[in-house]
Amino acid sequence: MDFVGNHILSVGQFQRSDVNRIFSVADRMRPYAMRKRITRVLEGAIVSNMFFEPSTRTRVSFGSAFNLLGGEVRETTEVKASSLTKGESLYDTARVLSGYSDVIVMRHPEAGSVAEFAAASRVPVINGGDGPNEHPSQALLDLYTMREELRAQDRSLDHLRIALIGDLRYGRAVHSLCKLLCLYDDIHIHFISPPELEIPEEISLQLRNHGHQVTQFHRLEAGIHGVDILYVTRTQEERFPSQDEADKYRGLFRLNESIYTQHCEPNTVIMHPLPRDSRAQAQELDEDLNQNPNLAIFRQTDNGVLVRMALFALVLNVVEEVDNHAKPVTWFTAKRNLAEKM
Ligand code: NCD
Repeated sequence: MDFVGNHILSVGQFQRSDVNRIFSVADRMRPYAMRKRITRVLEGAIVSNMFFEPSTRTRVSFGSAFNLLGGEVRETTEVKASSLTKGESLYDTARVLSGYSDVIVMRHPEAGSVAEFAAASRVPVINGGDGPNEHPSQALLDLYTMREELRAQDRSLDHLRIALIGDLRYGRAVHSLCKLLCLYDDIHIHFISPPELEIPEEISLQLRNHGHQVTQFHRLEAGIHGVDILYVTRTQEERFPSQDEADKYRGLFRLNESIYTQHCEPNTVIMHPLPRDSRAQAQELDEDLNQNPNLAIFRQTDNGVLVRMALFALVLNVVEEVDNHAKPVTWFTAKRNLAEKM
């Protein structure tokens, strides 16, 4: 696809070559994320971060990514604080906001809302998550992380064996990830969820149509062996018709060190889009796994900055300019040492 000046709304826009392009630009962003070099390539550019649903990682990492490229970040983080509460339409908000910024990142609780907003925007819009529908940048950073983790084991994304665990019905990160996996060859997928929270039929059909092997499980222990990656998710309680309904599924699947050691092959990578629900009744990913070297959740969040920098650089057409605006960092930063482990 042509990235320049275009919206990023769904992973369905990408071919495998587009994903490769994003990943190779992300690789080039590493010295900037590690503070080895700084660049001012987006000096003067403004991103509007419009987050109408709770977010820490996605919002802050999109903001950091833009800052790391030298641009400025403006944030609107609550519907309450915006004119949407006064009855303003997405159309009007988009027309106005796009006059104030060069690119917009938007998260909204309704499926399709970001595309509706983008249709009225005069600047590129990146989908930061639209209800249960899609979360393209999360899926890209997840796939980028999988590629890195597998590479360390001399393997590639083709022939990947992965278990996706938890609320697969409402989890938009999983939905986008599955669609991206359709770009690769011979994937084996274990879907592990309660029967009521299975992956939507059209997504599992899409995977099968690409020749991937899909198996459904309703018990955690039954589906977690024989895979390279465990991708655990939180019950998306905000998407359920009522809290009581959501509570039925809380804590049903809990991955902890003992289950991992008993049932998984050595070096099985553990991922989660985060936040993990650490309340006592939930704990889908136990903190007793924190010291497990295969826990990749914080490598995922670090990689999120690289991937989001790549998206901005591609959409705003500065990929080839980044290094021309670079200079070495002279101030002390512990980040440079820490980031060696990124
Ligand atoms: C995910 C999301 O918002 O869909 N979080 C994130 O962006 N990292 C997953 C979740 O909230 O469970």
